[in-house]
Amino acid sequence: MIPVTPMKIATILGTRPEIIKLSALIPLLDSDKRIEHILIHTGQHYDYGMDAVFFEELKLRKPHYLLNVGSHSQGKQTGLMLEKIEDILVKKNPVLVIVQGDTNSTLAGALAAAKLGIAIVHVEAGCRSFNRSMPEEINRVITDAVSSILIAPDDNAVANLKKEGVFGEIINLGSTAFDAAVRIQKFVGIVFNTLRKDFGIEEGNYLLLTLHRAENTTPERLASIMNTLNEIAKDIPIIFPIHPRTLKIAQENNVDLSNIHVRNPQSYLKFMSLLAHARFCITDSGGIQEEALVFNVPCLIPRNETEWMRLVDAGKNVLLGTDPDKIKQGILSLWDDSARLQQIKHIKVDYPRHVSEKIIDIIAHHG
Ligand code: UD1
Repeated sequence: MIPVTPMKIATILGTRPEIIKLSALIPLLDSDKRIEHILIHTGQHYDYGMDAVFFEELKLRKPHYLLNVGSHSQGKQTGLMLEKIEDILVKKNPVLVIVQGDTNSTLAGALAAAKLGIAIVHVEAGCRSFNRSMPEEINRVITDAVSSILIAPDDNAVANLKKEGVFGEIINLGSTAFDAAVRIQKFVGIVFNTLRKDFGIEEGNYLLLTLHRAENTTPERLASIMNTLNEIAKDIPIIFPIHPRTLKIAQENNVDLSNIHVRNPQSYLKFMSLLAHARFCITDSGGIQEEALVFNVPCLIPRNETEWMRLVDAGKNVLLGTDPDKIKQGILSLWDDSARLQQIKHIKVDYPRHVSEKIIDIIAHHG
């Protein structure tokens, strides 16, 4: 029998959401005999709680390359990554590069590969907020424009890509965020027994909050949103695992968080457990909007737009906007209305399963 040379594939990641959303795909790439897998970590996220804890908990192999790029301005961070990724791609010469999502690591990985003529698979292609002031929106549009295989999470994403006339092949598979959440679903109950005591909470008697987007963490916007939430937190327990970006800006600007239960970033399992048992969550994260669906927890979004309109259109999630009065009204009205809460929970929205396995099949057949 003629031995078959495995196909060399590099996956490039760098931040918490990419680690989570690629956590089901990475072991499949590692164990597939048809593939020689190279894992490159840009080091965009570097704190234990934003990075290593997820590798440990999700039982992921260590990256072959850790680029230690760290935090810088948008352009410098992306530029440093581009330079370092290019060196590795030239040395290793993979036939395919996989990137996920919309971060600076995603963009740098895609650009480095595109300039070398290496085919790119973009996982979570076609999401659009149509807000070009968001760094994530720029990253998405450019990554999609240079990708060869575009794994779209839903019909909206497919329509966006078609409208933009991307050259790559569009495949509507669904989002890998569901694979990760479904994988740990059975453990969230056990973990909550500990969290209940540590956080002094009971199922359904608290709100879970995250806030970190660049547009929500300007000093003015952050102060305006947090003042409102801090007011609400006098009567309603709000648990806030805080992103380092948000903490830094809150401290520098003396934003009052005194009534809110501010905590360090949580591990994936602990965060999913907090999410699964909350009355509802308030978040500007994209991933949590999908994860909330797995645990059937309503999700209120303090933004004017979202890339996950499918869930808003279905009535599962709610766009709150960024006006503090509207945010307050949106939160208080749902907290007090158990009938509406139940109504939202009864809405059935399907989500795809085993997306990572399907991606492997597509990659393996890539000529
Ligand atoms: C990045 C992504 C965003 C994603 C988010 C998830 C871009 C443009 N944005 O935003 O889409 O939703 O990750 O978390 O790529 N910091 C630390 N420790 C860390 C990482 C960051 O302290 O491990 C602090 C630094 O002060 C840094 C700030 O957070 O200046 C922002 O970090 P950065 O990686 O630039 O962007 P994120 O806000 O994390």
